[in-house]
Amino acid sequence: MQYDVDFLVIGTGIAGLTFALKVAEFGRVAIVTKKEAAETSTNYAQGGIASVFGRYDSFELHVRDTLESGSGLCKPDVVDMVVKDGPVRIQELMDWGVAFSRDHAGKLELDLGLEGGHSQKRIVHAGDFTGQAVERVLLERVGSHSNMGLFEDYIAVDLITYSTRMKRGVVTAAHEDLCCGAYVLATKTGEVHTFHARITVLATGGAGKVYLYTSNPDIATGDGMAMAYRAGALVANLEFVQFHPTCLYHPEAKNFLISEAVRGEGGVLIDYRGRAFMEDYDPKKDLACRDVVARAIDHELKKSGQDCVFLDITHQEHDFVRERFPNIYQKCLSFGIDMTSDPVPVVPAAHYMCGGVLVDMDGKTDIERLYAVGETACTGLHGANRLASNSLLEALVYAHRAAQQAVKDLGAMNGDVCRDLPPWDPMGTSDSDEAIVVSHNWEEIRRFMWNYVGVVRSNKRLLRARHRIETIQKEIREYYWDFKITSDLIELRNIAMVAELIVQSASLRKESRGLHYNIRYPQRDDKFWLKDTILRRPFVG
Ligand code: FAD
Ligand code: SIN
Repeated sequence: MQYDVDFLVIGTGIAGLTFALKVAEFGRVAIVTKKEAAETSTNYAQGGIASVFGRYDSFELHVRDTLESGSGLCKPDVVDMVVKDGPVRIQELMDWGVAFSRDHAGKLELDLGLEGGHSQKRIVHAGDFTGQAVERVLLERVGSHSNMGLFEDYIAVDLITYSTRMKRGVVTAAHEDLCCGAYVLATKTGEVHTFHARITVLATGGAGKVYLYTSNPDIATGDGMAMAYRAGALVANLEFVQFHPTCLYHPEAKNFLISEAVRGEGGVLIDYRGRAFMEDYDPKKDLACRDVVARAIDHELKKSGQDCVFLDITHQEHDFVRERFPNIYQKCLSFGIDMTSDPVPVVPAAHYMCGGVLVDMDGKTDIERLYAVGETACTGLHGANRLASNSLLEALVYAHRAAQQAVKDLGAMNGDVCRDLPPWDPMGTSDSDEAIVVSHNWEEIRRFMWNYVGVVRSNKRLLRARHRIETIQKEIREYYWDFKITSDLIELRNIAMVAELIVQSASLRKESRGLHYNIRYPQRDDKFWLKDTILRRPFVG
């Protein structure tokens, strides 16, 4: 079946939904999402959204903190623009109905939290359920809009692209340069639909599932980055994978984050003997930037041979802790940990992808009519290490800008070169009888990425990872083309693609900067490496 729309939005997190809401009055919108609509990283966000509301805060300070955290690779004009647009975008969320926490005194002013790398309290939050509060309001608004169709359990397989250069008869060794929509698998029926769109937006989130241990939900398989790369778009800075220092360490806890806001409220990292160790690593101690804290924990664990360190907030008022962190408190309690009296066992885990599909200041990729917003994009805001709570902010600001630009682009289009799209070629027609290949490869990638391309890297480990990924890629290519596609196969192909790109990017960068640490080159090298790592799929004629 073919759908014809003006805007195709892939993803229902803060980025995709915000974009969709802003373009809906200008054209028909289809939003596809691979699981239930609320199953997004956005929905699990705890700490909040960084923005300048505090009496002693200023745009200059937020800009400075962001640049410092980004270790020389942030784009200053992007940082300036995002920081300055923040308060307006957050006010808009409040106008739409998001109820952020107010201070305890008069319940009038926003209650602002503190997180690592911030010199001021500036984290706007809704208790420790910030993402849920935002996601719910955005989904409610989408549900009440008549110009939008929401397709749940629809997973995008690949973008549909077209070459304007070929059309003009110019013989060039170039990629296709215009996007006409996407092929999307309806996972409940197994049918692949053609979504023909004048504007296509990747809002597919991050890629935490490339790693064995992650704070991310299962949807985070880097699909947007992989699809864009396969289509020939530029991707950048994929070596900068952010490991959150404090995920709950418990055999039954899957992906549960202990927000950095806990350290913002006085939580202290201690080792198994009860010793606070962060002062050995950074003058900002527990509120140092994330790359520093994650590496410090990694070092402590390797030194002691222990499985985890502990986050101790037992010295705080018990009622305050329960009220400020109801989500984290209850979750820990369900595992038998009362955080008001017990230090919480924690470990670092893959959390956020600072790199992604390279976009300009309006979220446009270098393929015409293809945008990327949210975590899947690389805007230049985060550089080599994202400042805490700058992700939701970036998603909001860029979804707004991309929507404005996309509406203009739509208005300027005349005619449509994308007519007569070929239907999906079903390739192999038989059902797979070896699902074990998929789960085996999936498991293997995640494990070697964790062991060889994690918090601390080396040339030898990167080389090992490269050999493994090449073998698996070959196997997937052979296997993928032999059977009917399923969501598991699509995701496996994508995590393998993103793993390969991370390994490639990390191998190229011969220095240590921000989140990328290679023991062979422990220093930052501004002479040669003060630049992005940009990749594009080689052209196959
Ligand atoms: P997401 O919210 O992840 O949404 C991605 C969407 O794309 C989903 O709907 C998914 O189903 C869909 N999708 C993916 N692939 C496909 C496909 N092939 N076909 C169809 N649909 C697809 N950041 C902050 O700034 N502050 C915080 O406090 C904070 N806390 C966090 C806590 C946790 C536990 C996690 C995991 C992240 C946190 N982050 C935080 C990061 C932040 O939440 C994410 O970066 C942000 O929510 C990403 O939003 P997004 O819209 O880009 O993607
Ligand atoms: C957290 O609450 O610690 C997550 C914040 C973020 O990822 O920015």
